[in-house]
Amino acid sequence: MGTKSSMLANVENTRQLLASKSIHVCVIGIGRIGLPTALSFANYGLETTGVDVNDKLIEMINTGNYPLKDEPGFDTIFDNVRKNKKLNATKDIQQALSKSELIILSLPTPMDSKNIPDYSALLTVANSLNNFIKSGTVIVVESTVEPGFVENELIPLIEGDGSRIKCGMDFSVSACPETANPGEILDDFKKLPRVIGAIDKITTEIVSEIYKHVFNVEIVKMPNCRTANAVKLTTNVFRDVNIAFINEIAILFEKLDIDIMTVLQAASKKYNFQVHYPGAGVGGPCLPVNSYQMLNSAKKLNDSIKLKIIENARQINESMPEHVIELLSDALNEIGKSIKGSTIGLLGASYKPNVKDIQLSPIEQIIKKLEALNAKIKIYDPYFKSQNVFSHKTEDSFLDSITNTDAAIIITAHNEFHNLSPTLFVEKMASPVIVDTRGMMDVHAAKKAGIIFRGIGRGGI
Ligand SMILES: NC(=O)c1ccc[n+]([C@@H]2O[C@H](COP(=O)([O-])OP(=O)(O)OC[C@H]3O[C@@H](n4cnc5c(N)ncnc54)[C@H](O)[C@@H]3O)[C@@H](O)[C@H]2O)c1
Repeated sequence: MGTKSSMLANVENTRQLLASKSIHVCVIGIGRIGLPTALSFANYGLETTGVDVNDKLIEMINTGNYPLKDEPGFDTIFDNVRKNKKLNATKDIQQALSKSELIILSLPTPMDSKNIPDYSALLTVANSLNNFIKSGTVIVVESTVEPGFVENELIPLIEGDGSRIKCGMDFSVSACPETANPGEILDDFKKLPRVIGAIDKITTEIVSEIYKHVFNVEIVKMPNCRTANAVKLTTNVFRDVNIAFINEIAILFEKLDIDIMTVLQAASKKYNFQVHYPGAGVGGPCLPVNSYQMLNSAKKLNDSIKLKIIENARQINESMPEHVIELLSDALNEIGKSIKGSTIGLLGASYKPNVKDIQLSPIEQIIKKLEALNAKIKIYDPYFKSQNVFSHKTEDSFLDSITNTDAAIIITAHNEFHNLSPTLFVEKMASPVIVDTRGMMDVHAAKKAGIIFRGIGRGGI
């Protein structure tokens, strides 16, 4: 960093401060990603403050009633940190900033109803940083943002009119986009490399040193923040696009009497084929949002560059709930029923298996379409028992959700839905119509048991 005094001045002194555990860390936004991050710093032995606007969350953390119970290993690290007393959660950002040398931003970066990225949480916090950070602070942006956002929007806001603090002189900024997968975050923290870019080489080195010690993983150094952010978007958009490709050919295979799962199993034998699976849609706080962030980056260049593949991929993935409804309608027609007036059991609400998270989950669109067609809906998800999901009270048990239904749709590949007994469906349902959007059922066993089966891409079986 520039000329003013700074605790985190170079790699050597960072190393010493890490050894004496005398760096104060502030993690702003202690949700799905920020909380495990704060716990990791505290577990390493650094005094850590978690800042959030959510009173209930703060109270839960400070009283030991930890959230994120769906994350394996969370109870252990939380108990360790409870014992070492290195983590404290608060709403008081001013106080937290005034005592911290390292600030980590793990704020949400969702999109609005028009799919425009919403960076308002980061921008709001940037104003507080302008007012309250102390000289020499290093800020790490872990949130997922478009390449260039840190340099062009965030840093100018933190500087404000420049009268109190200047980037590179009084504070420094790095981007280390988080790539952990919900449901395996603590495990990913131990093995995924950290991609780190910054406003200058010295900050890259300092942040790399800190992350290397705290997380003990490979560090991949980037030339700047925007390249680090581009890496994160590239990996996630790659997945979104590939899933769209598989969804597209899955629908073709239904017409060609070919089973997509058989194809994928064989295709995976080729060393350079990376398998992706079809499904009812791509949800969550990352993949869909990241594709729109990439599209937004191009839009800012006055549409001089069109990202046609990403645009089409989004359209395909967003059309999958409609395809699920078509499969359902087709299966019900086979037994002389229609969606109108039928009771449909929806199995799985989360956007991905084995996590409690319904952000942008395809179930939302499926519910809307079923409601528009005057179906009655029952929902079961092991992570949302007797709760409100998109204005529907969920069932308490799997059996309740299928009993007397006219059809069921398997939406999420939760462990609980593996190896479901086809005969149970036949016994409990009013008519055993199943739409399996995730390749969960043994189709031959299902058909043998008398199930009227449809699955995405499951032609020819
Ligand atoms: N969840 C994931 O799968 C995942 C994975 C990798 C990266 N990310 C990225 O990490 C970032 C955080 O995502 P998340 O899933 O942890 O979000 P989250 O919604 O679980 O947590 C964000 C937290 O920030 C808090 N918050 C919001 N506004 C605030 C403000 N002004 N001041 C202080 N706190 C505020 C919220 O109350 C919440 O607790 C996002 O950029 C996301 O894209 C998420």
